[in-house]
Amino acid sequence: MTRKAILTIDGKSIELPILQGTCGPEALDMRGLYQETGLFSYDPGFTSTASCSSNITYIDGDAGILLYRGYPIEQIVENCNFLEAAFLLIYGDIPNYAQKQDFEKMINQHTMVHEQLRSFFHGFRRDAHPMAIMVGIVGALSAFYHDSLDIDDTSQREIATHRLIAKMPTIAAMAFNYSKGRPLPYPQNDLTYAQNFLKMMFSVPTEQYQINPIITKAIDRIFILHADHEQNASTSTVRLAGSSKANPFACIASGIAALWGPAHGGANEAVLAMLKTIGTKDKIPEFIEKAKNKNDPFRLMGFGHRVYKNYDPRARIMRQSCHEVLEQLGIHDPILEIAIELERIALEDPYFIEKKLYPNVDFYSGIIFSALGIPPSMFTVIFSVARTVGWVAQWNEMMADPAQKIGRPRQLYVGNPERKFQKP
Ligand code: SDX
Repeated sequence: MTRKAILTIDGKSIELPILQGTCGPEALDMRGLYQETGLFSYDPGFTSTASCSSNITYIDGDAGILLYRGYPIEQIVENCNFLEAAFLLIYGDIPNYAQKQDFEKMINQHTMVHEQLRSFFHGFRRDAHPMAIMVGIVGALSAFYHDSLDIDDTSQREIATHRLIAKMPTIAAMAFNYSKGRPLPYPQNDLTYAQNFLKMMFSVPTEQYQINPIITKAIDRIFILHADHEQNASTSTVRLAGSSKANPFACIASGIAALWGPAHGGANEAVLAMLKTIGTKDKIPEFIEKAKNKNDPFRLMGFGHRVYKNYDPRARIMRQSCHEVLEQLGIHDPILEIAIELERIALEDPYFIEKKLYPNVDFYSGIIFSALGIPPSMFTVIFSVARTVGWVAQWNEMMADPAQKIGRPRQLYVGNPERKFQKP
């Protein structure tokens, strides 16, 4: 029996069905609102809006819970590598041995990029932000892979999915090496996804690359933690681009562009810059006050979240990983001390307590990336490599929905009413 809400306007009542999910908040079905009342719902920033139904990722913001296809993120990180987590997000369950072998083989077939694409890099300045390169190159993939552009063909959608997951690390490592004036790397398919990425990032033709298991495990874990996160800004961007039936490479390029912002995936780079600006522990109270000052645009980067009103479970795992990696690598990074002290002070501050502002996934990731030798400009690039799995999983879910239609929100118009043209 579907429960209903009654909306009465000017004496006229309509029924709004209440939709129930597996868990989490129910939703008022507003699809008939405009037709039945002539009114729009108004929700800029979508603070109270479910844009779709999905069975991929679930977040309980109050409890600080994150599930990939029902499995808690803590258990995924403990029991899977990144490609197993990717298979889970895309196909719905943990791969068995045969499925895992087959998936790895499919991905490995696509790790290289078309040789002509390599010349695109030379059009960028060496000091171009690598996210600018990622947006450009990923969008350009649609100019090369014409056999995976037909979004109505499920097999082409699957090839595009494999190509994007496989090529993102290669393109990211090419962008990094291009900025260093080093040769553009090629993938090596007998390595794992994480090993391959790190080798492409840091190997040089003149030396034998030594795989470091600590760094490999850390980057694989970071990939898993960043893989998907429900209908965040960049995933919603990918879904909106996909709703117009744009090709998959264009959709993912739009997601990369949306992720770049410091309010979203660009926060990890901003956190490190903030911690360096704070510089010493005695400066922390001054910055906490700045963050609380309504007239000051400064915000504590890496803190707060639209959904989590509790500790982001990814940040908890990242914090743990941070300590392990720095200890195992024998690195003493004073920035980590500042981060821990900043977190301690903020979590005791009434402002942050009242507004339920906790560290999010970006707060510690930058410190680990630095320990792994990754420069700040590459932090969001790595986020985009990992999040490509979530983007393509969500995109496939949307494209497989027979009820899928173009996303076209309306507005509350507050501009000039019609007026007669008059020369000024
Ligand atoms: C990611 O959506 C996702 O799932 C994203 C993500 C993913 O995996 O895809 O989790 C990845 O983007 C994590 C978030 C990274 N961004 C940052 O760390 C940037 C700093 N954080 C803020 O900009 C902010 O917290 C947001 C953007 C993350 C969330 O903003 P909301 O939900 O729109 O909340 P808000 O801006 O309305 O803030 C509510 C209140 C405000 O005060 P009031 O106007 O009510 O008085 O809290 C304050 C804000 O001023 N506030 C902060 C703050 N974040 C919110 N004050 C100081 N420092 C902060 N960081």
